[in-house]
Amino acid sequence: MSSFSQRIIDWHLAHGRHNLPWQHDKSPYRVWVSEIMLQQTQVATVIPYYERFMQRFPNVHSLAEAEQDEVLALWTGLGYYARGRNLHKCAQILVTEHGGEFPPTLDEVIALPGIGRSTAAAILSISRNYPAVIMDGNVKRVLARHIGETRYPGERQAEKDLWQAAEERIPQEPEASANNLYGIYTQAMMDMGAMICTRNKPLCNDCPVASDCTALAKGLTAELPTRKPKKEKPVRQCVMLILRDEQGKLYLQQQPSSGLWGGLYIFPRFDDINSAWHWLDKQPLQASGEPETWSDFRHTFTHFHLDITPVLQPVVNSGIAEQGGAWVKAHERSIGLARPTEKLLNKLTLL
Ligand code: ADE
Repeated sequence: MSSFSQRIIDWHLAHGRHNLPWQHDKSPYRVWVSEIMLQQTQVATVIPYYERFMQRFPNVHSLAEAEQDEVLALWTGLGYYARGRNLHKCAQILVTEHGGEFPPTLDEVIALPGIGRSTAAAILSISRNYPAVIMDGNVKRVLARHIGETRYPGERQAEKDLWQAAEERIPQEPEASANNLYGIYTQAMMDMGAMICTRNKPLCNDCPVASDCTALAKGLTAELPTRKPKKEKPVRQCVMLILRDEQGKLYLQQQPSSGLWGGLYIFPRFDDINSAWHWLDKQPLQASGEPETWSDFRHTFTHFHLDITPVLQPVVNSGIAEQGGAWVKAHERSIGLARPTEKLLNKLTLL
């Protein structure tokens, strides 16, 4: 029987994905942007964002020179905005400290903002055929099943063992370097996880490594990888005050770059309605009608749910000139909007 990697690669060449936008012209820059976008987001969602991003920022220099607002505007809807901020910061570091190129070693790439070991390995193996292995959710699943790892893969020792299993499976053929096998193997493992070794109903009949898969032999494919022990997310509340002036303009505030919605624009947000009125009293604004309380909606972050009560307050605008404040129309989309802001603006365009 041929090696694990050889079987995976042969399967990928015959059945894998070869036409994703980032598979053409595999420069480190293009692969990097794709890997960052794909970190917590599905391929189908990423494609249009990726294409818009590449049109606007075709190389690391154009990205480094951009305003953060413009980068985040192109990120609006993708979520996990720290990725966009780090991407921008990283582009600037690449230009100022590395001559606009990715550094040559894995450790130097890992040292860049927003790039962990797995992403660094993906960038270098795919774009430069560097011999390094990745460990994203897809690859974890393939390997956990193949070696029959029954511990939760987030556990320290389990994770170490998975990295070791990955390294043991890297192509060993003497021609691996010449034939671009490390890069192909990386893409092949991603395809295996996405197309064959899926979380639900894996296609073991079509799997090139089924014959020595531990989970399949033991009837454990549905159980592995072991799921994370569940914790209930806490629920927090807030009020978002929608100030609307005589011209239909709405007041947004840019969030500080660290913290929730860093760098994005949201409606003024308060713990409760009294704090909202207290703040409004101190602004150079005159209420010009009754406030209207809308029904709550929920926005879910990684660690908690936020229940948002929107309150619409018509005002006469004598100009708030706070730092980071902006009066915008409901169809405004040229600045980075937090998801709940976007939802509320959409609703306001329909009024
Ligand atoms: N997920 C993460 N990286 C990917 C890639 N290069 N192709 C497809 N899916 C991915």
